[in-house]
Amino acid sequence: MISRELYHGTGPGPVTPDGCAVDYYAMLTPNGEPELIHAAIPEEASILELGAGAGRITHSLLALGHEVVAVDESPEMLAHIKGAETVPSPIQSLALPRKFDVVLLMSFVIETADDGMRQTFLRTCREHVADGGSVILQRKSPEWYDTVEPFEREAEDGRVVRMTGISRPEPHLLRATMEYTVGDRRWTHTFVSRRLDDDFLAAELDAAGLTMSGFLEGNREWVSALPQVG
Ligand SMILES: C[S@@+](CC[C@H](N)C(=O)[O-])C[C@H]1O[C@@H](n2cnc3c(N)ncnc32)[C@H](O)[C@@H]1O
Repeated sequence: MISRELYHGTGPGPVTPDGCAVDYYAMLTPNGEPELIHAAIPEEASILELGAGAGRITHSLLALGHEVVAVDESPEMLAHIKGAETVPSPIQSLALPRKFDVVLLMSFVIETADDGMRQTFLRTCREHVADGGSVILQRKSPEWYDTVEPFEREAEDGRVVRMTGISRPEPHLLRATMEYTVGDRRWTHTFVSRRLDDDFLAAELDAAGLTMSGFLEGNREWVSALPQVG
């Protein structure tokens, strides 16, 4: 499957190539992710944030004392980011003339069902992480893939989030649609993503010159990796 066939987004305002609604992501706030990342990396570590979106995490990482360079292929997303250098670019063709203490690829971007695309994402991570630095990835746990069911929940701020249309076209693939409703605005985001079992992810990382080194927390959603040197 070609990556661009794996995502579809609808709703008001600009929508990124991977189906994310800019106006929706611009209203979201962090949910503990910046503190989790901050606790796992050195004070004042420089961070390359891949797929930074509208800066939901970027702004908190800046406030925690990190220099952040924010990359996204959507200039409309990046326009919401203040205080960080922004680089409008696909992750797969990024070639910055410097390296970072930490390369961050969160928000399940790594779970693309396009295996070739995933490998280029990981190579970008490897090419931009300093010797002695680390790469931090966010994936859904393998158990989540096996057990997730349709749901509807209302957030404290009144947003309604629904997950519908779940199917498993292949044992390791999950297709689903997220629906986000805020007042009279409604967005949908349909995606196909790949379950990344520990062994599979470790092999994918190794092929890109990275060694899986651990998890940031107990449910194994956040994965750290170290660059192989030499
Ligand atoms: C689900 S949003 C999350 C944004 C942000 N990380 C957050 O947590 O709010 C995913 C972001 O990754 C970006 N993205 C996805 N694939 C990309 C690619 N191949 N190159 C650059 N950006 C990409 C999208 O444009 C989108 O802004």
